[in-house]
Amino acid sequence: MSILFVCLGNICRSPLAEGAMREAARKAGVTLEIDSAGTGHWHVGEPPDDRAQRTALANGVDISDQRARQIGQEDFRRFAHIVAMDRQVLADCKAIMPAGATSSMTLLLDHIEGREGEDVADPYYGGEDGFLTTWRDVTLGASALLEHLSET
Ligand code: 4NP
Repeated sequence: MSILFVCLGNICRSPLAEGAMREAARKAGVTLEIDSAGTGHWHVGEPPDDRAQRTALANGVDISDQRARQIGQEDFRRFAHIVAMDRQVLADCKAIMPAGATSSMTLLLDHIEGREGEDVADPYYGGEDGFLTTWRDVTLGASALLEHLSET
């Protein structure tokens, strides 16, 4: 089973979602292929934002090894599930989806009962506390997604 988390820059939300999902899978003893990417190209090759790294580490998860990359057409066949952080990112993924794409495409928060259709808010332009909100959203989303995947 393979999952690609996608946000805009691949330095804040999707690296946190990747870290949270790796931790959830590790705790559950489940082997998954997990990666993240951005729809934008601005931060390609960069590690996650310092604030994202600090927030994850404060919660016991080291995401410092991650490097930003841009989503590519091959991802739509390589990953069974493409999981977007917000509605704009989901729309942009659908717009660049090539013919023959096989990935399912959902919002992360679609997997949480009662939060379907909601965005993981972009913390990039805000303060450190926004990253804690992001961390909470992505950890809840990751556990819910893991539960959904183990049902299928
Ligand atoms: P992310 O946050 O999509 O959660 O990684 C952002 C990072 C960078 C930018 C926007 C959002 N930016 O405009 O550079």
